[in-house]
Amino acid sequence: MKKSFSVLSLGGDHIGPEVVESGLQILELAAHKAGIDIRLQEDLLGGASWDRHGRFCTDEVLTKARAADAVLVGAVGGPEWDDIVVDGPVTETDGLTRLRVELDVYNALRPARAWTPLLHNTPYRAEVVDGADILVIRENSGGIYYGEPRGSETLADGQVRAFEISQYLSGEVERIARCAFESARSRRNRVTSLDKSNVMESGKLWRETVSRIGRDEYPDVELNHLLMDYALFAVGSEPKKFDVLLADNLFGDLISDLVGMLAGSLGMLPSATIPCAARAGEMVRGGIYEPSHGSAPDISGRGIANPMATILSVAMMFEYAFARVEIARQIEDAVEQTLQRGILTPDLGGTATTNEVTAAVLSALRAN
Ligand code: IPM
Ligand code: MG
Repeated sequence: MKKSFSVLSLGGDHIGPEVVESGLQILELAAHKAGIDIRLQEDLLGGASWDRHGRFCTDEVLTKARAADAVLVGAVGGPEWDDIVVDGPVTETDGLTRLRVELDVYNALRPARAWTPLLHNTPYRAEVVDGADILVIRENSGGIYYGEPRGSETLADGQVRAFEISQYLSGEVERIARCAFESARSRRNRVTSLDKSNVMESGKLWRETVSRIGRDEYPDVELNHLLMDYALFAVGSEPKKFDVLLADNLFGDLISDLVGMLAGSLGMLPSATIPCAARAGEMVRGGIYEPSHGSAPDISGRGIANPMATILSVAMMFEYAFARVEIARQIEDAVEQTLQRGILTPDLGGTATTNEVTAAVLSALRAN
């Protein structure tokens, strides 16, 4: 069994470095428990990188990220950098997007579950949400985000026309479909694929391709399709009915925020974005592990950011990058025990600081 891993830590901006600091403390303790050795490197991303290097993600960071077993990211951006105009594609204006594209991490795993101690923090009646546990598999390197051509032009009549293309290659759909089926096999064995095949050509290709992969390669996994609009209603109103939700880049972006409602706060949502399917027990090299929330400039520097999303992202790192699922579950249990004790940051209605929450998770993890 591999015993030594390299991790690149990119705190980013505002609360990013604060929550990453918590994540690193959990990483250190959990690695000790797991008997593995972590070689840690740290660098800049986003606005912090712009201020130092004039680039949101430098070539040097990419080189380090490619060499690492896993990358831990905080959050990037803030009003200080909103007005900076950089020529070129979105990979030049957004450091995280450049990192994702260059690492070819096309499989974004975005889990959201209801935490029993936080049921009253959700907008749901407890019985509707209690037990809900959804994994969104979002295609993360194709579709409308990257389709060419894109741009804007002024027409003869003076109007401006802005456009992008939603496009998928069948191979891109095949590989992300396999990711959803593989993940379903280590969960409750159900995939619901979302599309707009009623109006979009790329949606038709999506549905046909997912059906074919399901039929030919994963007959043991239950597959259903929903149109994206109805899916928002169905998932929003009866979340417990769903297991794995598979969606393209844009629809996956939307649905992953919707299912965030289950967790009680954006501060509870982790993610892993990896360059392959996650197969139970197999090590995944080169993934990015990050909280789903943003850099929250409004609370930055006050020490009250919720570190749980980052801590849960570290749990995902143990599950996928280090193939130590039992340690991942121990971290999640420590998170749940801390919530149960009512040690909550203000986004969850509590008064605890980032450090107090982190200390409570560390002590629960030590005891587990
Ligand atoms: C996300 C975010 C990003 C996306 C933005 C910040 C570019 O919304 O990771 O969900 O759309 O992918
Ligand atoms: Mg989003």
